[in-house]
Amino acid sequence: MIKIPIAIIGAGGMGGRHLRALGALYESGMANVELVAVCDKRKENANFLADNANELLGLRPKVFTSLEEMKSKMPEIEAVDITTDSGSHHLIAQEAFELGYNVLCEKPLSLTIKGCNKVIEAWKKSGKVLSVAEQERRDPICRLNKAIIDAGIIGDPYSFIQGSARGGNDIIIWPWRHYKNVGGIFVDAGVHAVDQMMYYLGDIEEVFAVSKIWEPVRYRGDKIGVSNFYDHWADEVPESIKASSEDMVISTLKYKNGAIGQWTSFWAAHGEPLEYSMIYGSKGSMKPAKQRRGDPLSLNIDGIGEITGQEVIDLVPDFHLDELTSRLFGSERIASYKTPFEDADRFLVALEYYELGQCITDGTMPEVNAYVGRKDLAVCNAALESSVLGRPVKIDEIENESTSVYESSINEYWNI
Ligand SMILES: NC(=O)c1ccc[n+]([C@@H]2O[C@H](COP(=O)([O-])OP(=O)(O)OC[C@H]3O[C@@H](n4cnc5c(N)ncnc54)[C@H](O)[C@@H]3O)[C@@H](O)[C@H]2O)c1
Repeated sequence: MIKIPIAIIGAGGMGGRHLRALGALYESGMANVELVAVCDKRKENANFLADNANELLGLRPKVFTSLEEMKSKMPEIEAVDITTDSGSHHLIAQEAFELGYNVLCEKPLSLTIKGCNKVIEAWKKSGKVLSVAEQERRDPICRLNKAIIDAGIIGDPYSFIQGSARGGNDIIIWPWRHYKNVGGIFVDAGVHAVDQMMYYLGDIEEVFAVSKIWEPVRYRGDKIGVSNFYDHWADEVPESIKASSEDMVISTLKYKNGAIGQWTSFWAAHGEPLEYSMIYGSKGSMKPAKQRRGDPLSLNIDGIGEITGQEVIDLVPDFHLDELTSRLFGSERIASYKTPFEDADRFLVALEYYELGQCITDGTMPEVNAYVGRKDLAVCNAALESSVLGRPVKIDEIENESTSVYESSINEYWNI
């Protein structure tokens, strides 16, 4: 198989996770991309990732601190994978298209719709591939969630109710996730949640929300990052920071198909953490399985009662995973898995890489393309806009930039 030479741009926590994903793709025997370079404005980070790549993949990628230098020294590179912090995505993605690269860009595509639109403009001009790295829907059990809904097993969807509450006044994952201009935690995690909502029930058309910053000062807690992915930089986290992004957003969502959703995103909850998720339809309910956990989904159908585990998959005889997912997770029809979190994490990103390679080769559009990525952000920003304006906000209003009070200070900060 021809391997497309690629570079990772941004060698922090997620850059490392993407490297592990490449390891999984190489091991699968289906690798269609090859890591040949790493670029980070912090040279020590690029070197750290390159050393890890040498150990994991058996080849040390070249190290750069700018895209321009990388382009001139290694013109053979065809694609870049942007894993820098969220505020910088629009700048790096635009530059990448101008230099002629195909792009896999971590979510969110940008922090503002104006930023997304700049990227989209540059992408269209380039004729290259743009894929947004939204991996959660690629989990085999999320694919099964979707197949069950599409098969009408719970009937017509009435409502998707979900929420999470945790965090207290700890720094969550990393300090920049509390800075509005770099990528607040609501948007950072919210685009994943929204992507799942719209993957299952279709587009959202309107949001009414209230938001708040409960904890304007956050403190270094016992846990830094996710799993051990950020351990290398743990000493860099200060004892306290000033937060400028919302840590509570409670939204009511109207879907285009008539369903109504409720979404609580609460990152300043002290005491007992909470997590819930339920989709109700005209014939029953589904507790959707969460990505990377491997737990089975469960159904409760009128006149039948609870259905879970292997019995769920019997309801969708045509359900089959694609070849790479089947290889990574061990079967083409699975209702649950025991794969550890860290492996599931790298398998899902491996699927993104593989799709990128395929799209470059055959010119097809990635599943999470620029428009899907922009809409995921638009729903989050519509919630924040709704809270500022004190009224429901249509997603169209955000996407066509007819209102952007919340986003305006971010656009000013980045001069977008
Ligand atoms: N899909 C997911 O599940 C998931 C999970 C975590 C993070 N992410 C996303 O990945 C991205 C990175 O997050 P992270 O936690 O790894 O951040 P991080 O702060 O750990 O790493 C960012 C890296 O980018 C580098 N960088 C910043 N600006 C740069 C520039 N202009 N040029 C080159 N390098 C630059 C930094 O030096 C740093 O090494 C974010 O957009 C985040 O939302 C996605």
